[in-house]
Amino acid sequence: MGKKRLFLINGPNLNMLGKREPDTYGNKSLEDVVTLVEQVAADQGYEVTSFQSNHEGDLVDWIQRAEEGAEGIIINPAAYTHTSIALRDAISAISKPVVEIHISNVHERESFRHTSMLAPVCSGQVVGFGIDGYRLATLGMIQKIESEGRNHS
Ligand code: DQA
Repeated sequence: MGKKRLFLINGPNLNMLGKREPDTYGNKSLEDVVTLVEQVAADQGYEVTSFQSNHEGDLVDWIQRAEEGAEGIIINPAAYTHTSIALRDAISAISKPVVEIHISNVHERESFRHTSMLAPVCSGQVVGFGIDGYRLATLGMIQKIESEGRNHS
């Protein structure tokens, strides 16, 4: 069997991380995020496939792909968090655990950011810890995968 794999999926405008609203999202780039997640995952024996898109349907495709291709998904769905029934249905359609992460504390921001269409079908949510939230989400995701493996074997 090959190495266990996680998908890291980032939604719209996160390709601009570091340049985009640095007071809210910090000055680290998406590349920095990917490197961080890869390192945390590698320490635990996992590999990472990373994908970013500004297009909702592409994000749906990658969520679906996780059913065969990954043990779990770490996703920052960005603005689609608050609007996308398509992403929610894609998460419901797969059996793999999904952790939602937001860099900013969405709950101290505009009220339209307080609702997540996805959170009810995710295994967990990390909000408001900046870029470090990706590390926490990765560790939480792996912990969940490993403990479920133990329960079922
Ligand atoms: C975000 C929060 C969303 O409300 C926003 O649309 C983003 C980024 C975050 O990581 O804090 O694009 O998901």
